[in-house]
Amino acid sequence: MSAGRPPATDSQFLPSEAPNVASLGTDGRRLGSRDLDRHRQAARPRQNTPRRSGPTGTPTDGSGGTAPSSESNVYQQLLSQLHTTSGTQGEDVAVRMADIRRQLTEFQLHYKFGMDEVLTKINVLREEFEHTRDYSPIEHVNYRLKSLDRIMDKVQRYGCEPTLESIKHSIRDIAGIRITCSFVSDAYWVAEMLCSQPDLRVVEVKDYIRRPKLNGYQSLHVIVQVPVFLSNRTEFVYVEVQIRTVAMDFWASLEHKIYYTYDGEVPGDILDELRDAAVQAAALDKQMASIRDRVTALKDQAPVSGQGATGPTPSDRTTGAWFPSDDAMGTTWQWEDIAKHASGPHEGPQA
Ligand code: GTP
Ligand code: MG
Repeated sequence: MSAGRPPATDSQFLPSEAPNVASLGTDGRRLGSRDLDRHRQAARPRQNTPRRSGPTGTPTDGSGGTAPSSESNVYQQLLSQLHTTSGTQGEDVAVRMADIRRQLTEFQLHYKFGMDEVLTKINVLREEFEHTRDYSPIEHVNYRLKSLDRIMDKVQRYGCEPTLESIKHSIRDIAGIRITCSFVSDAYWVAEMLCSQPDLRVVEVKDYIRRPKLNGYQSLHVIVQVPVFLSNRTEFVYVEVQIRTVAMDFWASLEHKIYYTYDGEVPGDILDELRDAAVQAAALDKQMASIRDRVTALKDQAPVSGQGATGPTPSDRTTGAWFPSDDAMGTTWQWEDIAKHASGPHEGPQA
């Protein structure tokens, strides 16, 4: 267990052991942290001119000053839409403002609930492993809710309609969870265990491990929809889950810091070094797995057998010794099936 680990720095995800998030404000600031939306800027044509966000999540115009009005425009549009759906004409301004606040809080709470549902699933897996085996494929877990500022920044950049309904459908990473594993095989294994759960709908997978981004970035990205059972209805909430190894996480955190240090204009030689570091991180992952396999093989020959702290090798999965294939769920999907069945694009474009 990794109690007290600092949050992953590349997007200030909180560690899963962090205090509960019940006191979330309407702007999500308690949890709010920036995401790395900039990675998409190169990959997707924009309807509006994209603006960078500074390291504190404050939108900037790239020249150090505060950006002009485009983002405040989308804010205004959202507010006026909320205003028309709040209260009745002629009602006290304070009442209508309170209603707008309620709508925003409710919107964010649903994501918190959805994220909590998925975090619970991950914690069940993690605790089950920790208590019944000597090994857990999950090293640590971080999470964050996107702040309203960051959501509106993305709305503006993607040219998405500034209504809660449209945001709900278009922005799928408002709730984000990052799972860090020791080995690459563990990352796939965790993805398989999670995505096989019958109440999760896998809508999109991106395998940046098999096909790293051109800058070297590696990770598995899964977007799931999770049902949130409210008092009067069920909402299906998108949650983005990123699964990667410790080495990939180390690389991503550093790359993120460098990107913002240079405000996106990273010198070519540093980009080259980063790509090289990514290759070395992948080589380290491979080497560690090979050491693990050798130690596991030795352990198998030992008089008292047991999986021990070295964990399972991929071949353990087929024996059923580690993978919960005989549980009530019946089927456990392999990563290939998950990717095939996801309704979104299976492999992300190399940005
Ligand atoms: P978004 O608009 O950011 O959701 O773009 P996208 O749909 O193309 O998402 P993608 O799955 O490629 O990336 C989503 C998230 O993955 C980002 O917000 C980051 O947290 C992480 N990520 C993606 N690419 C990189 C990268 O090159 N470096 C780092 N450090 N993180 C990345
Ligand atoms: Mg994102």
